[in-house]
Amino acid sequence: MTVSSTTPSDPHTHVTELRSQYDPRLSAVPPGQIRLRWCVVSGTPGSTQRGYQVQWHGGDGVWHTGDPVVSDAAIDIPDGAEALSSREVRTYRVRVTTEAGWTAWSDELVVEGALTGAELQAQVIDIESETEGPVPILRREFTLSAAPRRARLYISALGAYEVRINGERATDGILNPGWTSYQERILLDTLDVAPLLRPGANAIEITVGDGWYRGRMGFAERREIYGDRIGPVAQLEVTDVDGVDTVVLTDESWRGGFGAVRSASIYDGTHTDLTAAVASDVAGFDDAGWMPARIVPFDRTVFVPRAVVPVREVQTLPMTLTDREGAVALDGGQNISGWVRLEVEGSRGDVVTVRHAEVLEPDGALHTAALRTAKATDTYVLGHDGREVLEPAFTFHGFRYAEVTGQARVVSATAVAISSDLRPRSEFASSHAALDRFHENVVWSQRDNFVSVPTDCPQRDERLGWTGDAQAFAATANTLFDSESFWASWLRDLEVEQDADGAVASIVPNIVRHGDLLMGGEAVDDMGRAGWADAATIVPMATYDAYGSVDVLRTQLNSMRRWVDHLRRRAGDDVLLPEEPFQYGDWLDPDAPGDRPWEAKTTPLFVANCFYVRSAALLARAEAILGEEGAQHHADLADRVARAVWQRWGNEAMRTQTGAALCLEFDIVPDVERVALAAALAENVRAENGRIATGFLGTPLVLFALSRNGHLTEAYRMLLRREAPSWLYQVDRGATTVWERWDAIRPDGTIHTGAMDSKEGDTMISFNHYAYGAVIDWVYRTVAGLDPVEPGYRVVRIAPRPAESLRQARARVQTPFGALAIDWTVSDDGALTADLTVPFGVRAQLDLPATDASTVTVDGAAAPASLTHGTHRVVVTAAAIVPSDAPST
Ligand code: BGC
Repeated sequence: MTVSSTTPSDPHTHVTELRSQYDPRLSAVPPGQIRLRWCVVSGTPGSTQRGYQVQWHGGDGVWHTGDPVVSDAAIDIPDGAEALSSREVRTYRVRVTTEAGWTAWSDELVVEGALTGAELQAQVIDIESETEGPVPILRREFTLSAAPRRARLYISALGAYEVRINGERATDGILNPGWTSYQERILLDTLDVAPLLRPGANAIEITVGDGWYRGRMGFAERREIYGDRIGPVAQLEVTDVDGVDTVVLTDESWRGGFGAVRSASIYDGTHTDLTAAVASDVAGFDDAGWMPARIVPFDRTVFVPRAVVPVREVQTLPMTLTDREGAVALDGGQNISGWVRLEVEGSRGDVVTVRHAEVLEPDGALHTAALRTAKATDTYVLGHDGREVLEPAFTFHGFRYAEVTGQARVVSATAVAISSDLRPRSEFASSHAALDRFHENVVWSQRDNFVSVPTDCPQRDERLGWTGDAQAFAATANTLFDSESFWASWLRDLEVEQDADGAVASIVPNIVRHGDLLMGGEAVDDMGRAGWADAATIVPMATYDAYGSVDVLRTQLNSMRRWVDHLRRRAGDDVLLPEEPFQYGDWLDPDAPGDRPWEAKTTPLFVANCFYVRSAALLARAEAILGEEGAQHHADLADRVARAVWQRWGNEAMRTQTGAALCLEFDIVPDVERVALAAALAENVRAENGRIATGFLGTPLVLFALSRNGHLTEAYRMLLRREAPSWLYQVDRGATTVWERWDAIRPDGTIHTGAMDSKEGDTMISFNHYAYGAVIDWVYRTVAGLDPVEPGYRVVRIAPRPAESLRQARARVQTPFGALAIDWTVSDDGALTADLTVPFGVRAQLDLPATDASTVTVDGAAAPASLTHGTHRVVVTAAAIVPSDAPST
């Protein structure tokens, strides 16, 4: 086929959602090569994209037109232009050609190049301030002779910053610049501040809290992990309507002092004394008594343009107020990450204290034991008589409940939920109310734990980027939210934290020092642990599969290789990895001793070698996709290790859910044994009456291992079981997020102590850990039946699987090509009717639950093998329905 720009237009087809490889909500993107993506909508059934053409201009309105390209691709499209440079603003548009000809040009996409740290002229500045003491404010005033036409503030900090210009917040980002591996990467924000500036005198003020940089973090109670000096770096560039440029840089001309925030800690909360508030964010404030700023010697190349959306307020929930023993008990109805926005009425000098908890003790008191040493308490001193709205800065808490004490009257309370502001990507609802609630709980656990880094939990003195939890949950995270930029940024840190030998950390950003991590009283090595370190290969591939862009694989390839090379070196002359003094193993297997969660029943060395196979195989796949050398070599390695694993642990695989799931899902079992292994797993599940017997590593895999090998009945039995341990048990116990332990609240209502045999008096119990929520990806693929088979959903299997206890489901996923949706129901006569929406560019293969007695029609005619874009009605009479003993509510 040849395409040319003169082919007649196709008015029934449009290019929509043109964007670059970066999240479309970033105000500026890292300088470099831009690649484009788009969706197409078309009213013409069966039409396809046969080619595309890109145009761009650099602000002068003169379009540069690329040659027409014959291709059906709509992801990772080279823009045909030079690399985008800092401050450059470039506009793109695209059109595609179908069988009917060219479409109109798309809406325009504007991208702007951010500044890199190397280009900053501003210096990092500070004033002397104490760790956990009053929070420093740095300010200065400047004059503009005319109104601004364009103004950009490039800003970051050692610490967490808030910036105000002329009395207004200049960003809705929270805890910016967010947490990254600060020793090598600190994000640099670009803010459009033109609306806040005016002719004449202007004031800019930047407040910097300890945040993750200097505050207490981790279970070893470390402070000043990255440094003992906190302060901002900011470069304001203004061009006014007369064309005059003004640049304001952080330097020694700034002055600093303190205001209302007397201390702020991520774990402990914030103390705000409003009697000490200062109006330093407006021009005319007298800062003569303040200190001159000092320059903090700092390598500014560490500042890198932000490529991930910031943490923001994402939802507010009204809280109920109840009097309880002289205090006011608050309930937001939902476990969240964030804080309480409190309206009170009182007198100047009144003290108000707000404490937080995820659950209540049976007597209604806050359960704070789970917080360990985190105080999670905000205190305020009122600044004036009358009503005041109170909110803490530079902290967040994991909570549903709170308790307010103090003299002031509580007028109202709102729970403010914060999260890295990723766009929700999907929806699911079914006839099974408890499953729907569980889905909702998983969505909340992701929201609550995606606060700048993928944390284990948002409440206790931890909130760390545990790599094992992240890899377990990655596929589900990618289905629920548009997590691509989030992972891309975190994976850079994962590589930063790899040691010289390629070993991957258990926590990213890594703040663990040798001796911090104790298990059974012994210091254990946190580098290169199986199932945790494998986040290096699993998360990039899950991200590629979900969004279809090879960027993440290309960027991470070196990290993936270093990890697999490391494993090879550990194996030495042997095929298998050797025994290690410590592995987390199938962490929190419900059959492990509660205080020794690493003592799972599946042998840790077996599990470790399964992950070795997986990482080698994923590396091989990445190399093949990228056309890089090594694919065959690593595929052979994976096969060799797989054979040795099976030989040594094949019998054990037959006995445990996790062992079987690993061998089935990681292709370790030889083909001839697959049926027998799957049957053994199914038999195990039947014998256990659907009891889940997997920890963090087996849980994401076990239902896939069943359903992909013909044991859907057992998969449903596990999914819908109500007794502990099970996913729905916690729903029945009122959970609004996913628990860390299957029995965090026991059937008799008592709360698990979480006692741990790690260090003296240690506990580990959280009501908001997403790892076990990893089952939700299976629900989308198998219950709803939206099962991507090619990266980015380019080819998707439509495979709804109704059950007696689940007769209706609907789901929608925003694929890179557009919305893919299904809404199916089984009628009393046993017919399944499914309404399907397939986006342009996606091929939907039908894998329907038909029996020998079924007739299958699509849009009233005989069913084709696959469908293209449009809406379709699929009817399967006498549908196959999974029998189930689970209740249908
Ligand atoms: C975290 C986990 C983590 C584990 C590994 C816990 O304290 O909360 O989710 O993966 O430690 O040891």
